[in-house]
Amino acid sequence: MTKKIESHLTEDRVIKPTKEFSKSARISSLAQYKKIYKESIQSPSKFWSKEAKELHWQKKWSKVLQWTPPFAKWFVGGKINASENCLDRHLNGPRKNKAAIIWEGEPGETRTITYAQLHREVCKFANALKNQGIKKRDRVIIYMPMVPEAAIAMLACARIGAVHSVVFGGFSATSILDRVEDSGASAIITADGGWRRGKVVPLKANVDEALKKSKLVKKVIVLERCKNEVKMKRGRDIWWHKAMENASTDCPPAQLDSEHPLYILYTSGSTGKPKGILHTTGGYLTGTYSTTKYIFDIRDDDIYWCTADVGWVTGHSYIVYGPLLNGATCLMYEGAPNFPDFARFWDIIERHGVTIFYTAPTAIRAFIKAGDHLPEAHDLSSLRLLGSVGEPINPEAWMWYHEKIGGGKCPIVDTWWQTETGAIMISPLPGATPTKPGTATLPFFGIDAAILDETGKECKANEGGRLVIRKPWPSMLRTIYGDKRRFKKTYWDDYEGIYTAGDGARRDSDGNFWIVGRLDDVLNVSGHRLGTAEVESALVSHPSIAEAAVVGRPDEIKGQGVVAFVTVKEGIKHGAKLVTTLRNHVSKEIGPIAKPDDIRFANALPKTRSGKIMRRLLKEICAGGEVSGDTTTLEDFQVIASLQKSN
Ligand code: PRX
Repeated sequence: MTKKIESHLTEDRVIKPTKEFSKSARISSLAQYKKIYKESIQSPSKFWSKEAKELHWQKKWSKVLQWTPPFAKWFVGGKINASENCLDRHLNGPRKNKAAIIWEGEPGETRTITYAQLHREVCKFANALKNQGIKKRDRVIIYMPMVPEAAIAMLACARIGAVHSVVFGGFSATSILDRVEDSGASAIITADGGWRRGKVVPLKANVDEALKKSKLVKKVIVLERCKNEVKMKRGRDIWWHKAMENASTDCPPAQLDSEHPLYILYTSGSTGKPKGILHTTGGYLTGTYSTTKYIFDIRDDDIYWCTADVGWVTGHSYIVYGPLLNGATCLMYEGAPNFPDFARFWDIIERHGVTIFYTAPTAIRAFIKAGDHLPEAHDLSSLRLLGSVGEPINPEAWMWYHEKIGGGKCPIVDTWWQTETGAIMISPLPGATPTKPGTATLPFFGIDAAILDETGKECKANEGGRLVIRKPWPSMLRTIYGDKRRFKKTYWDDYEGIYTAGDGARRDSDGNFWIVGRLDDVLNVSGHRLGTAEVESALVSHPSIAEAAVVGRPDEIKGQGVVAFVTVKEGIKHGAKLVTTLRNHVSKEIGPIAKPDDIRFANALPKTRSGKIMRRLLKEICAGGEVSGDTTTLEDFQVIASLQKSN
């Protein structure tokens, strides 16, 4: 881990919320935020139980928090159902026939699904799952395109107490197989295909490929989306519409313990195998409900659009659970941002009258590159609030987003959080917090975020250190599925009873948090976390490769690009052909997002005497060529010279 974390970014521009926005916002001044924040940190249980009470509990909890570090139980003894809270709770009032999901497919078709209709579909599908033998606690993999049925599948699992594990539709067969095996899933819900940049992604074929190597999965339910040809295996596979044919619309929500597992979502870490992050019910719902309410200041007449995929945590918390808990209208779009061209998002905002737009810096940078004429040709005046997530947003992208998309009037909420945190941890409140481009600003209520140095002392203003959360919070991960030791070691080993996020950060003199980036061997490519070890193990699984080391390098659009240094086995010729083969190999092993941008062949990799690859040197070579700092532990100095020459 780096000893000193430096940050050279200084930013003096301060953008305050407009009077007009503040006037009608839930939290309308910095003073009000500070007062509630102070109280919430003095007594987190009081704050969180007030929030939790706004949800529907089948049985009230007897204790708000049971904390045996690092294991937390929230709302102990309470009973609650996620799908009942997202759906049934809205059916006895004016939200019943309000749009829950407005969906647009990549080819252009649209569907609107009201809360009552969504409820009906979820109940039917929950019964269909039961008819297929799926029970409470069974793990169900969802590998779907961005269609309403993805949300229906998630909510139907939650309704009967099955644990969903959504696998991003861009992942490969190998990634599906890993997740099936790790979670012990007995069923997969998928589709024949999904549309992406005018082409069909063969989802069902990927599932078939994955299942050649596993006997765990007994049922595969297949939605007909693209009508591409698929093979159905008798006894195992069934079409979604067939499974729904005789399913009843009557499905009372299961009575579930507050700590009942809601989902497992896999994310990258610094060692090879992805981690199955486990979230449970009551606390997760409370966290996503409360953050959506205050941070997006969501209203009944908003049309809210989060552009993430349901395969990532942002899709879980801020497409499905958070907004539906708030009875919001969510827009959902199936395809790519540049199909048919880079105006697609602006076109969608204009046609659907989107009011809240939540996207990622990597997308914003791609839009900037595509040209101002595209947003300028569209009426974006319906927008009232913008959000950013996934990686630090560079100040220039922030300003562009503010001016060109937000017309200079929309607050921007730069939200810092992680798969592990379940919900947003650090973010402006749009009617209250003055922002500076590039900072996620201040912690959300009840979140005791801080920056600590190596010894556990809190850093002074503008001193870099490790970002930590000192008190438990309701939507925190409960464990890494099946691996408590790794859970403890990854997040709780640095400081006693304190959660380490793995990010470097500093606070400025106003207390704003500036995230500098990851401290571990995790890359952030287009806002997606990729473990260098994962890509390395994919590379060495190719028969030509002896060793591989993967590092990130700055990338204008993606934030970070992937560079792989590889050594080949005796007698193997390397060249352009092998580069293509290896890139395709990584794509097959993990998915296209992990494809190295650059593959460099080397005779040897720089190692310490104990055999550890010195990644820092490789990073320096990628970034500029010169190697600085301490190289005394390097085994063979010649290696560096030859790597630089090969540039
Ligand atoms: O490094 C931080 C970065 O993304 C990581 C979490 O990735 P993941 O679990 O995939 O979740 C992404 C969506 C929540 C963090 O450790 N990150 C996320 N949001 C921000 C960010 N870095 C800076 N600013 C943000 N707003």
